Amino acid sequence: MHQSHMQQPAQTSLANFSHDGRIGLIEIDNPPVNALSVPLVQALIAALNDFEAVAGLEALVLYGAGRTWVAGADIATFDDPGFPVAEFKAFLTRLDAQQCHVVAALHGAVLGGGLELAMACHHRVAQPNTRLGLPEVTFGIVPGAQGTQRLPRLVGAELALDMITSGRALDATQAQAAGLVDAVAEGDARSIGLAAAEALLASGAAPRRASALAVQPAPETAFAKAEAAAAKKPGWPQLATAIRCVRAAQDLPFAQGEQVEADAFAALVNASSAKALRHLFFAEREAAKIPGLPRDTARRPIRSVGIVGSGTMGGGIAMAFVNGGIPVSLIDVSNEALQRGLGLIRGNYEASVAKGRLTAEQVEQRMGLLQGSLDYQALADCDLIIEAVFEDLQLKTEVCTRLGAVAKPGAIIATNTSTLDVDRLAQATGCPADVLGMHFFSPANVMRLLEVVRGAATAPEVLATVLKLAGAIGKVPVVSGVCYGFIGNRMAEVYMREADSLILEGAEPAQVDAAVEALGMAMGPCRMLDMAGVDVGARTVIEYRKIGGLPDDPSYRALALELFELGRFGQKTAAGFYRYDGRKALPDPQVTEIAKALAERHGIARRSHIEPGEIVERLLYPLINEGLKILDEGIAYRSGDIDVVWVAGYGFPDFRGGPLWMANEIGLEKIAERLAHYAAVRGNDHGYWTPARLLSAAGSTQNIQVQS
Ligand code: 3HC
Ligand code: NAI
Repeated sequence: MHQSHMQQPAQTSLANFSHDGRIGLIEIDNPPVNALSVPLVQALIAALNDFEAVAGLEALVLYGAGRTWVAGADIATFDDPGFPVAEFKAFLTRLDAQQCHVVAALHGAVLGGGLELAMACHHRVAQPNTRLGLPEVTFGIVPGAQGTQRLPRLVGAELALDMITSGRALDATQAQAAGLVDAVAEGDARSIGLAAAEALLASGAAPRRASALAVQPAPETAFAKAEAAAAKKPGWPQLATAIRCVRAAQDLPFAQGEQVEADAFAALVNASSAKALRHLFFAEREAAKIPGLPRDTARRPIRSVGIVGSGTMGGGIAMAFVNGGIPVSLIDVSNEALQRGLGLIRGNYEASVAKGRLTAEQVEQRMGLLQGSLDYQALADCDLIIEAVFEDLQLKTEVCTRLGAVAKPGAIIATNTSTLDVDRLAQATGCPADVLGMHFFSPANVMRLLEVVRGAATAPEVLATVLKLAGAIGKVPVVSGVCYGFIGNRMAEVYMREADSLILEGAEPAQVDAAVEALGMAMGPCRMLDMAGVDVGARTVIEYRKIGGLPDDPSYRALALELFELGRFGQKTAAGFYRYDGRKALPDPQVTEIAKALAERHGIARRSHIEPGEIVERLLYPLINEGLKILDEGIAYRSGDIDVVWVAGYGFPDFRGGPLWMANEIGLEKIAERLAHYAAVRGNDHGYWTPARLLSAAGSTQNIQVQS
């Protein structure tokens, strides 16, 4: 290195030009993730101008300052006036056309526009920690800066099709094997970039432009497979569009393919589905920020976790932690229950081996992190203890008292209760500041949502610890205040209530489910309850009634309660709202008979046909209304939190942005008007149709944010 020839960057811009001997350098410096914003694109253009103005430079290296290369276009700038895609593409075309070598020195996230930038360079060298991908479909769009054209030229159309339609990223080793990066090297990004540029100059090789490469075509079967997968997700039109773009890369010259991509991008970027998906990206990140809880709040180390109860939830929660590398002590009351729980966990892992998702060695490693015991003393050393015993207030109170006695000072105690009063359970431990709710969703090793229930006494550092821990085990945390059912199940209660009523009034379970599945719900309410367990749902209704939480309505969820009485617990007994052939739900005429008898008993008139439109309104509008009440009461901090709960925990369609985002699309006025309609035609003795205060006061759900 020739010190005398080194010119340091002025550090005034988001992209700083300097040079080191004969090699020019552009450092990209736009914290936190070097996202491509309007000023960054302008700064890049200015830095390239600077480079071109210095005579005698023989190569150019681009690298990112801070934790990463460029993590994509700044998603926040996609709305009006829009991301400057034309300027950015013109910049990429200019980079591509440079006569000297242009090297991208990569580290961290090389995603979306970040990968498009890297691919417009002639050579890519990456640190081992680099991840490369085009995740645009997950934002409702397709890559818009030549990515759909350059990626197939670098890795072949088949892999490009897979990467672009799945949004999946490659690690550095995979990227090198695929030809997406030319070398993997240890060292800081600037140094590995300089070394690569020197090596290229020494080799005498000519610059290699992705735009000039021929595409290795994909077999027709690969296109057919991608098209079949796209057809299964009608709410994601970006998938079919992405396939069209890759086909264009394969069939057309670069410039024409680029035009296909540009038209596709422009058509998608302002679609309501793309806006909804962007909303969810930021809502998920916002959800982890709690008003009044500074980012630097002290946290407690969590090195080991204890779980009480090895049933459906305890087992899934145990898997979530050992999958994240955290050792778990799992306890239960009897050896039989414990062995059943451990056996189910092993069975789940072995199923993953059979599907090629895990190796036998990984299974042993994970099972090795799991200790079963019948003795509460096994929890004495744990940093976090989660109880997941039956949903019974008395039992949980007893368990919490024992946990308070056995836990070491400073250990966090959490309850996985679905509905019970977390403050009461916290008091039972004798150390309420250390207690909160960690409400996982079934199956807990799969579902992304974690409702974190903040009790009246929960210490800030306990909350901060669990929010951080959630991220470490791949969960999306949303904080809820204490109320019956918290955010998700409280809203689900009114949804289930209406599903039940509609069936008593003459709808078939399959019609109820089909109406909301057509909107994109992963599963309608009847199938969902059959899967989760009609018994689990009915027991919560019974408990809720005991504490006087239910309206004085004898027909309230009468069908679910009757199915429970009859032992029709859903999938696990092969009969519930449906009958089952394996996992396949089949209509059951017996359920129609049960519904008829119940309707008669409760004096409910049956109709021969109920319109899908009515089913959708009666399921969703009360749910939205309840969400607004939850906001008004300060149970949820913001409307986006509620959207995240329903998308990450209940299969609400992501391309509709969540129930409160969707409420804006429908119009709050219209919802208020329809609630009034149902109050008029169905009566409002129990307050089912009483509008939330915010429905008329807010104007837009997006304006509502509770600051405390
Ligand atoms: N635009 C705007 N902000 C972004 C961003 C982006 N592309 N990527 C991350 N951020 C912000 C986050 O909102 C967050 O801000 P905050 O601290 O104020 O909440 C901050 O950067 C850090 O992000 P994370 O909390 O997610 O940090 P992680 O370390 O967990 O993850 C990451 C970093 C892997 C980069 C992750 O943020 C991510 O996956 N980002 C999205 C990257 C992406 O998909 N880019 C493609 C965009 S579309 C595109 O490029 C279109 C092009 O083809 C034209
Ligand atoms: P489950 O019946 O599958 O498991 C409960 C386990 O707790 C059983 O293995 C039982 O032997 C054990 N147990 C009972 N008393 C015990 C004690 N004193 N000490 C140690 N272990 C004891 O129940 P499930 O479904 O796992 O539910 C557990 C909790 O999770 C409940 O509070 C439930 O409301 C909640 N939950 C359930 C969800 C679901 O979909 N099943 C979803 C989210 C939360």
